[in-house]
Amino acid sequence: MQLTGNTIFITGATSGIGRGLAEAFHKLGNKVIIAGRRKALLDQVTAANPGMTGIELDIADPASIQAAAERLVAGNPTLNVLINNAGIMPFDDASGPMDDVQAQSIIATNLLGPIRMTSALIEHLKAQPRSVIVNNTSVLAYTPLANTAVYSASKAALHSYTLSQRFMLRNTSVAVQEIAPPWVNTDLIKKGDDPRAMPLDAFIEQTMAALGTDAEEAIVESARPMRDNAGPKEHALVMGFNSYIAENPIPV
Ligand SMILES: NC(=O)c1ccc[n+]([C@@H]2O[C@H](COP(=O)([O-])OP(=O)(O)OC[C@H]3O[C@@H](n4cnc5c(N)ncnc54)[C@H](OP(=O)(O)O)[C@@H]3O)[C@@H](O)[C@H]2O)c1
Repeated sequence: MQLTGNTIFITGATSGIGRGLAEAFHKLGNKVIIAGRRKALLDQVTAANPGMTGIELDIADPASIQAAAERLVAGNPTLNVLINNAGIMPFDDASGPMDDVQAQSIIATNLLGPIRMTSALIEHLKAQPRSVIVNNTSVLAYTPLANTAVYSASKAALHSYTLSQRFMLRNTSVAVQEIAPPWVNTDLIKKGDDPRAMPLDAFIEQTMAALGTDAEEAIVESARPMRDNAGPKEHALVMGFNSYIAENPIPV
């Protein structure tokens, strides 16, 4: 995508990767609108970045999405970039009874959220001379972390949806890019400065460089081994990865 001259809406930009991307695009002179549930953080981020604006949004709530989309388009007629970034990652245990409320919340936030947000904005995006939808999945879409089974499945589904969406939009002004982050040091699990987590600044810098190309997938180099398709060796890759995590657990 072109990294300048855009009007960009980023969901889940009150912290972590969303905030990092919002500030990087803001520094490049783009008009940036951020969204999230935590009003105090929206105010804090916009105050720290004069010119940036915020919209309250619960991405798990269809009515909230509709209201945000209407306000967004009315106030920002040049809106041409949607970054579907908001997400949650609770741990679970697929070997026992699932917490149904939690499972529904993960799917509503991580999968239905981007589907509904895009749906609410797609006709507006198609009417712009050049538009981009960026979906934030995860390397866990390709190699699941077994103790975040529903999360990993939600991201695999979002990757699949992204492929379909790109094909369906192929003859329009809307390009579709995917970010599939490795473990990045944010509040998503628990910001613990685990040395295995990529520092946020380095992740944002490498992701901005990758987004600035025409690549369908803006993947940082360290995510390659988990993203690259294991093909028939997938079972061994997933077993090896999860055995390693079982022996070296992620602190929660
Ligand atoms: N960090 C990693 O290791 C990693 C790896 C792969 C993929 N990712 C993906 O990157 C994205 C950003 O995560 P992060 O690491 O930056 O974590 P984070 O710091 O916890 O940020 C998550 C963001 O999502 C927003 N959010 C969550 N539920 C929401 C809801 N119902 N409505 C609106 N906004 C909601 C949060 O805002 P509010 O709480 O203010 O609503 C927050 O701004 C997620 O999709 C995540 O799956 C992260």
